[in-house]
Amino acid sequence: MADGIIKGFSLLSKEEKLKLVASFTDNPKKSEEIYKSFAIKDDVFAKRFDEFSENTISCFGLPYGIAPNFLINNKRYVVPMVTEESSVVAAAAKSAKFWAEHGGFKTKIISTVKTGHIHFIWEGNYEKFASIFSELKQRMIVCTNDITSNMQKRGGGILNIELINLTNELENYYQIKASFETIDSMGANFINSCLEEFADELKIFLSDNENFTGKEKECEVIMAILSNYTPDCIVETWVECKISEFEQLDIGMEPSKFAKKFETAVKIADVSPFRATTHNKGIFNGIDSVALATGNDFRALEAGGHAYASRTGKYRSLTKVEILEDKFKFTLKAPISIGTIGGLTQLHPLAKLSLEILGNPKAKELMTILASAGLANNFAAVKSLVTKGIQIGHMRMHLVNILNSFDATDKEKDNAKKYFKNRKINIDSVRSFLGRE
Ligand code: MEV
Repeated sequence: MADGIIKGFSLLSKEEKLKLVASFTDNPKKSEEIYKSFAIKDDVFAKRFDEFSENTISCFGLPYGIAPNFLINNKRYVVPMVTEESSVVAAAAKSAKFWAEHGGFKTKIISTVKTGHIHFIWEGNYEKFASIFSELKQRMIVCTNDITSNMQKRGGGILNIELINLTNELENYYQIKASFETIDSMGANFINSCLEEFADELKIFLSDNENFTGKEKECEVIMAILSNYTPDCIVETWVECKISEFEQLDIGMEPSKFAKKFETAVKIADVSPFRATTHNKGIFNGIDSVALATGNDFRALEAGGHAYASRTGKYRSLTKVEILEDKFKFTLKAPISIGTIGGLTQLHPLAKLSLEILGNPKAKELMTILASAGLANNFAAVKSLVTKGIQIGHMRMHLVNILNSFDATDKEKDNAKKYFKNRKINIDSVRSFLGRE
């Protein structure tokens, strides 16, 4: 390790890795204890968790909370949410309850198509290639029969394969764009496996086909990979009520004023990318929490969601408000590419349980649940922002974290909760209440 490079780390036993890493801390013995105390105790699960990833030395716990009272398409759900951020679950739960009493969330799956691409460089005549592309397309479908047969039995598979000429964007750059229906799986491995087979077939096709000569017989496959931009895997979810029904919320203003202010706030998120980013982040507070709780890939959802929010060329709000006479309608339209089989969904014991408490939904149903959680969190955030502001509720939930950061005793915590009931909470006010340095 003389040059600072750690060699062969992956070959060390878990215990050796742990000791080595703990040695980088101020108190190696204590650090080892902490790492070990967070490790999963059950041997079977511990092994499984270690195998989810690489070089694992412990397990990082995140709170697993429940937002009860979601009513989605007239069906009741208790929704599991995994997040470290205080007030996200409480906000979702509060919104869910209000909307359950006002018709609940309604949803529509617009489409469930996913895509992947072979990105390749080719010096040839596009028109010639395009005129015989259907032959390659057929060969690609045949060469992936082994991979697709199971998916086909479930009603999915390859939907289309197209040749796309992007030479005006980048010299000699083409794509083969393939579309897939992956039914209840998110489909990343399925799509990537198909694409890699397609890439091999593309090279064979170019070299074997007598229509091509010289340089046309070769291409350079730069990469073959699914796209996390899924503008054709879209769910819409909405809530609506009479504006007068907002009277039942603690908004401190006339319902009509609240509805108008709320609408303006959402319009601001549509025109200002600065606001839109935070607005959409609030939506992903809900979506990601349910994605994590159900073993889905929240990074893919975030990437796809933010790209979709930019589809007009400007980054905008994913939600919109419509006020029609005395009616208020609040809608989220977002790409949600998830699965209920495959990946960690059935391997992570808590993800499996999450799906069970949701009634073991199919992927389409789970899309509606994630979207509704996103809309619920967005409603709660914008409601707070246009009424009391976000800090009063947020800091109330965050108070315990601040108290814990000062190692407050249970008695101090109880006293602090009473003291701060109607006072502003921040690090300094809590510090001085506790009499800490
Ligand atoms: C905080 O995690 C999320 C919010 O900032 C969202 C928003 O501003 O709409 C409260």
